[in-house]
Amino acid sequence: AYPPMSVTLTLEDEIDINRGDMLAKPNNLPLQQSKFEALMVWMSDSPMNLKTRYLVRHTTRETKALINEVVYKIDVNTLGRVEATPLGLNEVGRVALTSMHPLFLDPYRSNRATGNFLLIDPESFQTVAAGMVIERQVQPPLAKVESENLHTEGSLVSREAREAKLGEKAYTVWCTGLSGAGKSTIARAVEHALFEDGKMVYRLDGDNLRQGLNRDLGFSTKDRSENIRRAAEVAKLFNEAGVTVICSFISPFESDRAAAREIIGAERFVELYVSAPLEVCEGRDPHGLYRKARVGEISEFTGVSAPYQPPRAPHLTVDTATQSVLESVALVTSYLKSR
Ligand code: ADX
Repeated sequence: AYPPMSVTLTLEDEIDINRGDMLAKPNNLPLQQSKFEALMVWMSDSPMNLKTRYLVRHTTRETKALINEVVYKIDVNTLGRVEATPLGLNEVGRVALTSMHPLFLDPYRSNRATGNFLLIDPESFQTVAAGMVIERQVQPPLAKVESENLHTEGSLVSREAREAKLGEKAYTVWCTGLSGAGKSTIARAVEHALFEDGKMVYRLDGDNLRQGLNRDLGFSTKDRSENIRRAAEVAKLFNEAGVTVICSFISPFESDRAAAREIIGAERFVELYVSAPLEVCEGRDPHGLYRKARVGEISEFTGVSAPYQPPRAPHLTVDTATQSVLESVALVTSYLKSR
């Protein structure tokens, strides 16, 4: 097809796509970026203004962009670099820009269509400049580069062989809930009950892990995700060794818990929602943290100044405001037996 023909695309998966979106080859993806550099020619009488939010038109997309700096200007007679000042009419230079929404860019050298753009004056709607993308701020996908040089070392002792020898299957019981809901108390009691029953069991607790393995992490959304990811990786290792794990982490985000389930494996992951109303948790306040959070001494505190997303379909739920620890333990142990 070619302009101005219309085409209809029928997708295999249900993906929300729109006019202006871009189809790309999986092995040849453009970079999604909002910071980029370009060689630009200024085409307007009014000189470049570093405070104006210009409209940038790139492929079929349009967004706003600020010019951050002129890296250098080019003398068109000598092609030498000259001092960087805002470009005037017919001047050419290398410019750094930031767009409000990310663009799908390629260097002009490798793709003319996705490597060129126009800048438009937001008031007069006149085209003020044309640009060619010359440098993409490539952030190397570190993990991938590293993993290309890694390979999995298999074991002569399989998980199944371990389970057969131990006569039990290892599970991870993942307790999630507000601070003060009773996760640690229940985890401790479940650990004790299983241990007394002759099971191999170990407990992983947020407060404890945060003093060792995760001591570099705080409570931002990103750090909490990393906290949960590492905890899930550790739980997985214990499970592989044949040990059942009881985890107690606030784990406030559904996506992090889903990622944990993915790492551990859905067939051995048991989500236990340790539920209690916020007022109850705050009333208990075993370590005085809610009080500190209310007066602003702790920021991003779950339930006060940071969100908690309750699980939508946990395997088990206990309400610690109305149920006893023993009841909770019985619920977990009988569920594990039934699984
Ligand atoms: S999680 O959100 O990343 O899952 P995690 O369970 O490891 O949290 O740690 C929570 C514990 O950290 C709480 O029991 C509490 O003692 C302590 N803590 C300190 N600051 C905060 C905070 N801002 N939000 C929640 N818990 C906090």
